[in-house]
Amino acid sequence: MSEHHDTPDVTNVSRRGFLKGFGAGTAATSLLSPLSLREAAAAERGGAIGPGEVPVVLMINGLKRDVRVEPRVTLLDALRNRLNLTGPKKVCDRGTCGACTVLLDGQPAYSCSLLAIEVEGRAITTIEGIGTPDQMNSVQRAFVANDAQQCGFCTPGFVTAATAYVRKNPQATNDDICKALGGNLCRCGTYAGMLLAVADATTKGGA
Ligand code: FES
Ligand code: FES
Repeated sequence: MSEHHDTPDVTNVSRRGFLKGFGAGTAATSLLSPLSLREAAAAERGGAIGPGEVPVVLMINGLKRDVRVEPRVTLLDALRNRLNLTGPKKVCDRGTCGACTVLLDGQPAYSCSLLAIEVEGRAITTIEGIGTPDQMNSVQRAFVANDAQQCGFCTPGFVTAATAYVRKNPQATNDDICKALGGNLCRCGTYAGMLLAVADATTKGGA
């Protein structure tokens, strides 16, 4: 018995055929979004994306950033190696230390454990978007005031995670803060100073 498929077999769609059908009045591929181009490339390969570079649009610190990366590239590597945003640090590269923490739609996330292509359309905030040396947020100011760092390598991740926490928990106790920052590790052991800093930022009204 022959089978009837309602959907077209994308494995047989050529680039020309796909773009012709997809465009329906769109004359130039430059008018297609990177996502559309990627869908076209995926259709050519029967749904698979990569292994070569694909266009990705990331919304970082309020700006739209276009980048081309292989699908296997993590958000952390895309930020550091392609977009020159080196605030998030690469330490364990396996989701255990928090040095690479960014905010994803306001929530802390390990950027080493996310693929760049899976966070298209999400609001990404790196430490560069949280404050600058001239315009620090309250958590950054509290870290300075409480001498809450030694080598400083873990600091961007801590400040990013603490900023998200303080924004949502302006009444947090020291115990709450300790638990909340349990996903970040400091090899220098500067925990006492960091706890004081976050508590300080909390009592001063949040980030
Ligand atoms: S570098 Fe991402 S959690 Fe350690
Ligand atoms: S201050 Fe050195 S790892 Fe935290």
